[in-house]
Amino acid sequence: VKRVTTHILQEMKQRGEKIAMLTAYDYSMATILDDAGLDVLLVGDSASNVMAGHETTLPITLDQMIYHAQSVVRGANRAFVVVDLPFGSYQSDSKEALKSAIRIMKESGAHGVKLEGGTEVVESVQRIVAAGIPVLGHLGLTPQSIYKFGTYSVRAKDEEEAAKLKTDVLALQEAGCFGVVLEKIPAKLAGEVTQSIQIPTIGIGAGPHCDGQVLVVNDMIGLTKGFRPRFLRQYLDLYEGIKGAAQNYIRDVKAVDFPNEKEQY
Ligand code: KIV
Ligand code: NA
Repeated sequence: VKRVTTHILQEMKQRGEKIAMLTAYDYSMATILDDAGLDVLLVGDSASNVMAGHETTLPITLDQMIYHAQSVVRGANRAFVVVDLPFGSYQSDSKEALKSAIRIMKESGAHGVKLEGGTEVVESVQRIVAAGIPVLGHLGLTPQSIYKFGTYSVRAKDEEEAAKLKTDVLALQEAGCFGVVLEKIPAKLAGEVTQSIQIPTIGIGAGPHCDGQVLVVNDMIGLTKGFRPRFLRQYLDLYEGIKGAAQNYIRDVKAVDFPNEKEQY
């Protein structure tokens, strides 16, 4: 199988073929999602929430991100694998950002990195791109700065914030990003931004006009009980499915129905 590349993602934008991206954090899920045909797998720092149970994405470390990335890379034969630079691994300066990006690439075998922010991270993006590492931008709702905003509500609803986002997206394109994630912004703004740049936009809660879509896989398969924001389409209810399977297993063990004659040596 031929690996998806940034060049292919660029071509997809040009011919209007939407890019399908989901997060993945482990080998088993990566294998399934790759087999299903996802174009991009994102080893998101949302692992901090859905894998580790933290309230925010801030606590996850670079070492932990690399561990997740290694597992995903082993399961992905076709998908382009992008890894989030976690909070604290790139904000100090562009040298630190490059060092962290290099560690991810060398130690996990992933194909690119993602970082949050606009003009503030332009120097870091330039430096990482100059080293030959593809960089995906991330604007709109940026969960690593949750304490600056205080909520996970829709971003760039007013003129001023929208104008800043438009400036940021151009700066990221100029700095060499191969694409940009737009999280939780009005669909109309996401459409305007998508038309204004050459690189693909990947939306989450950003409407249908983006060049691609991304969701946290645990949310879209119904593993995160009670998390039903408007932008999420839940394709499975695995929480209830797994709970039911576990309850059936408990029943069978207690009743000495499992293992049966065929299930023993
Ligand atoms: O960490 C993550 O899952 C993300 C996506 C929501 C874009 O950054
Ligand atoms: Na993230």
